[in-house]
Amino acid sequence: MSRSEPGFVSARTSAIGGRLRVPGDKSISHRAVIFSALADGVSHIEGLLEGEDVLATLAAFRAMGVMAEGPANGKLVIVGAGMDGLKASKSALDMGNSGTAMRLMSGVLAAQSFNSVLVGDESLSSRPMRRIMIPLEKMGADCRVEADGTPPIQIRATDHLRGIHYDLPVASAQVKSAILLAGLYAKGTTKVVEPAATRDHTERMLNAYGYACVTEQSVISLEGGGHLTAQDISVPADISSAAFFMVLASIVPGSQILLEHVGVNATRTGVINILRLMGADIELINPREVGGEAVADIQVSYSGLAGIDVPPEQVPLAIDEIPAICIAAACASGVTRVRGAEELRHKESDRISAVVEGLRAVGIEVEEHPDGMNIVGGNILGGQVDSQLDHRIAMAFAVAGAVASNPITIRRCENVATSFPDFIELANQTGMKLDAQTLDR
Ligand code: S3P
Repeated sequence: MSRSEPGFVSARTSAIGGRLRVPGDKSISHRAVIFSALADGVSHIEGLLEGEDVLATLAAFRAMGVMAEGPANGKLVIVGAGMDGLKASKSALDMGNSGTAMRLMSGVLAAQSFNSVLVGDESLSSRPMRRIMIPLEKMGADCRVEADGTPPIQIRATDHLRGIHYDLPVASAQVKSAILLAGLYAKGTTKVVEPAATRDHTERMLNAYGYACVTEQSVISLEGGGHLTAQDISVPADISSAAFFMVLASIVPGSQILLEHVGVNATRTGVINILRLMGADIELINPREVGGEAVADIQVSYSGLAGIDVPPEQVPLAIDEIPAICIAAACASGVTRVRGAEELRHKESDRISAVVEGLRAVGIEVEEHPDGMNIVGGNILGGQVDSQLDHRIAMAFAVAGAVASNPITIRRCENVATSFPDFIELANQTGMKLDAQTLDR
């Protein structure tokens, strides 16, 4: 076993600035690969996130016989195999760190005429999968997980899925998407009812690939048995990656930054809404539509923040950005209360406990709750934080280092490349003082 590990050291900086295009949206990139692989014809994707998570989805399709060229510089060409063109993989499909890859692929594989096994890394191997097994089994799929509901997932061949009407017990775009993907192959209508709005990229992209998917308020439905037609897809920059720089510019005095070509789909902009409620100065410039998705340049200027009660309905719309928002809260005057965020305990790490432990380690007072926390704004002192192998925890505390009295050392940062391969380079371009360091265990 190696006795060293990749870490970050982030030191205080003066005003940051510049124009920046962060990498492609992870959710849209996964879906572009999936729909292109299942489509008839050749799809051209640009702006693809070449992060490890998306590469895991692509590798799975290659292992099932799909031909693809790239990715290089965000460009990927996929020769669609058609709905029934996939072949059994010779080995287990490794989804790495990616819950999206595992859950969405399960929806596709549950409907195939061959068996599949899906595995993941240490973090993914401890994440809950019954939430997709239950609806997929209701559709007639034969899926097995470990006794505690975690991967590996063993999926047996079937050719007779049926559509279901399913009330989602949790607001989860991954579960919704797994059911809709299986529904493409099912007999009859598949209807999913959401308890709260979640990201709708699957629905939008299905329609873009010529497959009718109808949303009426909280009910999403489609008919099985159709076809997807290859498309040219342009992936916008990921608002979840841009969020770190929104918070950075909001907390480092004198900063102003322009984040270019960011996806601002209304099911993803909770971070903008929440930061604005805290007093952030965020402007959407040149809002436009690209390939059925809203896109804008986002200008963020420093402004003093104040603590708020985060509106619970904004939580699913900012679910991946809560760690970054908690850093903003640590720098705000007064108390910020986050509730209704129990789902954070089931992400790449238990993000509630990872943020609580991290903030305490750098001198911030926090009260932990089962579904959130109260953060008392104050001075970030610096210290050592464990990212718990979670990319978003690592990047959030890197941002915190920019305003800390002493440097913040962040341990176990190896998974940052799952969503943001060039994070250190881009962060330093803005004026951050962020170093990759090999730390002793
Ligand atoms: C995602 C949905 C969210 C999010 C994840 C990506 C997606 O998960 O946290 O990073 O692409 O559908 P849940 O839908 O499980 O909340």
